[in-house]
Amino acid sequence: MPIVPNSFSSGDEPFAPNAAPRNNMPRLTSGRSSCQTVELHPPEASIEEREMTDDGVAKHDLNDASIYDNAEYLANNPSWHVEDSPWKAARIFEILDRNSIKPARIVEVGCGAGEILVQLKTKLPGSTFVGYEMSSQAFKLASERERPGVQFVNKSIFHDNVHFDALLCIDVFEHVDDYIGFVRSLKKFAKYKVFHIPLDLSVQSVFRSQALLDARKSVGHLHYFTKQTAIETVRYAGYEIIDHHLTAMAMELPNRGLRANLMNVPRWLLSRLSPDLAARLLGGWSLMVLAR
Ligand SMILES: C[S@@+](CC[C@H](N)C(=O)[O-])C[C@H]1O[C@@H](n2cnc3c(N)ncnc32)[C@H](O)[C@@H]1O
Repeated sequence: MPIVPNSFSSGDEPFAPNAAPRNNMPRLTSGRSSCQTVELHPPEASIEEREMTDDGVAKHDLNDASIYDNAEYLANNPSWHVEDSPWKAARIFEILDRNSIKPARIVEVGCGAGEILVQLKTKLPGSTFVGYEMSSQAFKLASERERPGVQFVNKSIFHDNVHFDALLCIDVFEHVDDYIGFVRSLKKFAKYKVFHIPLDLSVQSVFRSQALLDARKSVGHLHYFTKQTAIETVRYAGYEIIDHHLTAMAMELPNRGLRANLMNVPRWLLSRLSPDLAARLLGGWSLMVLAR
């Protein structure tokens, strides 16, 4: 299948992604977009490589039974986590800023309700943002947040031929069946990548028989990481790690339930000694990774 380069421009004019959905990918997407155009950046991979990859990435599409499209995820997470977005955007901005990276064009894959990009736009007003989200329910929430320079697309990025300065993959790959293939396939879409990964594996979560099952049931986590396995996953998928740091999700985003709030006391005490040790023993941390 010939690849027609897509184009994103840095302006605020209307834009339509032009990579047609493949015929054998029915559900993919409406292809709906209210994005705006940006300048053309050819992908790093050759056409032959992309064609091979395209066959491989179809497996990352959501199917009819997906909890992200059958209302199960929406029922468990009606806000699609927008209340966490200002905090996440601040942490993303921090890791970019401390590495002196000021991307002009930023894409988020699995952007959910899109609030992270809205928040980032206030921190990087000169940048343009595109959010890809396959779930029609999340996309509906995101499309209400569209504004000049912040656009959302209801499809998989793997079916577009686009390139950005930075790609955000925030609390997403632990939801994806073939997470290593997914992470590897994202590489060509941007120069810099920011991954945020919940560290569900801790002594505490393994000790409590229901903890990991709860994460699976309520927020759809299929894969569970420690700091070390998260870093090695990104490295194994073909990235060079530029920077990483723990983010204190449980302590800095309070009111996550009585047990979680009570656990914040020993978390805080132990983290004075060693945040790494506290994350490993008690959980409640995530990892921000900057890679290329
Ligand atoms: C926990 S939400 C994170 C949303 C947003 N990034 C945030 O942090 O607020 C996980 C997102 O991953 C998306 N997702 C699930 N499976 C996916 C897949 N195979 N490919 C791309 N996105 C997927 C879901 O639709 C959902 O919006």
